[in-house]
Amino acid sequence: MKEKINVAVIGCGTIANSAHIPAYMASPIAEIKYFCDIIPERADAAVQKYGCGTAVYDYKQILDDPDLDAVSVCTHNDMHSVIAIDFMRRGKDVLCEKPAARILPEALEMERVSYETGRILSIGVCNRYANSVNRIKKMIEAGDLGDVYHVYASFRAHRSIPGLGGDFTTFACSGGGALIDWGVHYIDLIMYCLNDPKVLNCSGEAFCKLGVDMKNYTYTSMWAENTGDKENGTYDVDDSVVGLIRTDRAVISFNGAWAQNIGINETFIDFMGDKGGIRLQYCGGFTYYTAKDGALLEVKPSYTMNDMHRDEVLDFVECVQKGTRNRNDIRYAVGTSKIMQAIYDSSAAHKEIVL
Ligand SMILES: NC(=O)c1ccc[n+]([C@@H]2O[C@H](COP(=O)([O-])OP(=O)(O)OC[C@H]3O[C@@H](n4cnc5c(N)ncnc54)[C@H](O)[C@@H]3O)[C@@H](O)[C@H]2O)c1
Repeated sequence: MKEKINVAVIGCGTIANSAHIPAYMASPIAEIKYFCDIIPERADAAVQKYGCGTAVYDYKQILDDPDLDAVSVCTHNDMHSVIAIDFMRRGKDVLCEKPAARILPEALEMERVSYETGRILSIGVCNRYANSVNRIKKMIEAGDLGDVYHVYASFRAHRSIPGLGGDFTTFACSGGGALIDWGVHYIDLIMYCLNDPKVLNCSGEAFCKLGVDMKNYTYTSMWAENTGDKENGTYDVDDSVVGLIRTDRAVISFNGAWAQNIGINETFIDFMGDKGGIRLQYCGGFTYYTAKDGALLEVKPSYTMNDMHRDEVLDFVECVQKGTRNRNDIRYAVGTSKIMQAIYDSSAAHKEIVL
């Protein structure tokens, strides 16, 4: 077992700086050998800021470094499969940001190469490391909810389209909008808590409405605004989506929106069982509802909240050291990819898709 794991961070933007790099810096095992970005100033700035590593501007320059063990892929979605596959084929383990890929065939190819090469490929569905989520998973397994027959997710915002006209809103780069960007976390979290039920069929509609007229889209603030281009950019992804996923156990339904003409922001998941139910506030705590001895009970457990992004990266580093796959393995992300693809296909055909 190697004492130190040398890593490279590919793409030194928001998620790299807020999650991956600080976690690697906190790891007693990992050492960042390279910061790579096609925008040279971003790679240079990372070297300067973190006081380690070498800046590179083309990831291909480091593919063959025999001392490099693993990489984080923190670029936009269009490069996930390309970069992850290139590194796996050169014997490196990969932690790739969510969504695994833009479309299902890319995710399937990533899975195939991961298992063919024997390299670890973890996808950044970080909620699998959240204390709340793992408590709920255990409660469901212990039967505290009884038969969980319906799970409903709401990931809705009033006006929250990111980087209008840029990578986020251009299908060729992102593979989709609200569903693939936000919904991926919710669907993955639910499938994880339910212990991966078999998906039978999916039905959905995805709407591209509020951002189409980019110049007149009204908002108070925009995240990732610096990546947008309202004058010459593209807007061809879903800004809202509804869906129904039938599994061999629970039915999953959701209402998601980057933007809709309803002035509320809602981010929660309701797990409904015949013995008990849970409302999880996304990235927060949860409430458990049940009935006992003729009384209705409502329990709001208190516990330490953890930094799920950090714990995800630290677990990846440990897995690289031990050569083991983890709970974020690509095979689970492929499951989520199949669902999202089916929702988009259902929307395009206006009919149910049987899996
Ligand atoms: N897990 C989460 O909760 C979470 C949160 C935010 C973003 N993300 C995901 O992280 C990814 C990046 O998002 P972001 O918000 O950090 O974007 P960003 O634009 O802030 O950063 C992406 C960086 O990648 C660089 N880049 C692009 N192509 C490259 C290439 N070929 N080689 C090297 N660098 C390249 C860009 O120049 C940019 O600096 C997306 O897939 C997004 O979905 C995940």
